[in-house]
Amino acid sequence: MMNEVIVVKNLKKEIELAKGNLLEVLSDISFEIKRGEFVSIVGPSGSGKSTLRYCISSLLPPTEGKC
Ligand SMILES: Nc1ncnc2c1ncn2[C@@H]1O[C@H](COP(=O)(O)OP(=O)(O)OP(=O)(O)O)[C@@H](O)[C@H]1O
Ligand SMILES: [Mg+2]
Repeated sequence: MMNEVIVVKNLKKEIELAKGNLLEVLSDISFEIKRGEFVSIVGPSGSGKSTLRYCISSLLPPTEGKC
């Protein structure tokens, strides 16, 4: 059984606001969450918490890296 339940590695997520206008929302994020760990994702509004959650949940594909 894998001990690392969530592995995020060099995750980058860009969102295309308009043609040729990319917003880099997540930049080179890496972390692991292990079985039994209790983790909070905190940060100011607009820092990318929801976008990170969507990537981890496979609702959004990463631009680079893996999650
Ligand atoms: N689909 C989208 N189109 C345009 N901009 C987006 C989109 N998704 C996210 N963003 C932008 O990316 C940044 C991060 O947004 P996100 O919703 O992930 O932040 P958040 O940390 O969850 O904020 P909050 O605490 O207000 O929920 C913000 O600047 C937001 O405007
Ligand atoms: Mg949010």
